Amino acid sequence: MSAALLMPLKCSRHGKLIYKVFTQTQRHRYLSNVYPSAEHLRKFISENTEITGEQSLTPEIRLRLFTPRCRFWRERPELWPFDDPYWAIYWPGGQALSRYVLDNPEVCRDQTVLDLGSGCGASAIAAKLCGAAHVLANDIDTVAAVATQMNCELNGLEPPVCVTTNMIGSEPDAFSLILLGDMFYDEALATHLHSWLDSCVRVHGTKVLIGDPGRAQFESHSIRQLLHQLAQFELPESVREENYGLTFSSVWCYRPEL
Ligand SMILES: C[S@@+](CC[C@H](N)C(=O)[O-])C[C@H]1O[C@@H](n2cnc3c(N)ncnc32)[C@H](O)[C@@H]1O
Repeated sequence: MSAALLMPLKCSRHGKLIYKVFTQTQRHRYLSNVYPSAEHLRKFISENTEITGEQSLTPEIRLRLFTPRCRFWRERPELWPFDDPYWAIYWPGGQALSRYVLDNPEVCRDQTVLDLGSGCGASAIAAKLCGAAHVLANDIDTVAAVATQMNCELNGLEPPVCVTTNMIGSEPDAFSLILLGDMFYDEALATHLHSWLDSCVRVHGTKVLIGDPGRAQFESHSIRQLLHQLAQFELPESVREENYGLTFSSVWCYRPEL
């Protein structure tokens, strides 16, 4: 990506979010905001996002996201009234993971699936489209939960159960499959995730699939040695441009016995 293109991206809300995840100097913020009603959030999301589809690795899934035509694409981040809107971007790790699920529906069929750090909910939607018996979308951002419900409806699906508590570190539930799209962008979060995933696998034999575009925090983490690569996808041009030159995104299976 040229410096000329990079600058406006860095200055925009969208660019700053991507930059933050890419370089990750801060932890995700937990807000003490009192959130408005789901009704109000739905209206706010409708007014500040656009329906997208074609530009991702999963054009069959339609999502409400930020686009250059949306106010907060370029607006000063301080004006955004909620927690950082990670849900308004379809991250390259989530795109690869959802593509893999759609290409291999047997992975989700009849399974009890957790999409952890669900953001816009694309991987939960992919799991539902593939016939998962039960899908739970978990994201600590309340607005993400509403966006996920809206995105499910947009794809003609019943919304999944959405949980906004922090499940990492809790006693593991008996999920048969956990999906993690682009969740290894912060070292401390990655370490907590690693030990929690380890319990999920040991207690319930849960299968864990991870989508990641090769972020430094992922590649250098100890969990990386315990992963088996299942697929790699070349990112569409527009996704590459928005993600500082990332070109591929991979799907990995966590195999702690390795
Ligand atoms: C980089 S985004 C990835 C979103 C989505 N999986 C995708 O690939 O498009 C990371 C998401 O994880 C959520 N998150 C961060 N920490 C979390 C935690 N402890 N539990 C659940 N979600 C978390 C954020 O709110 C954000 O929506």
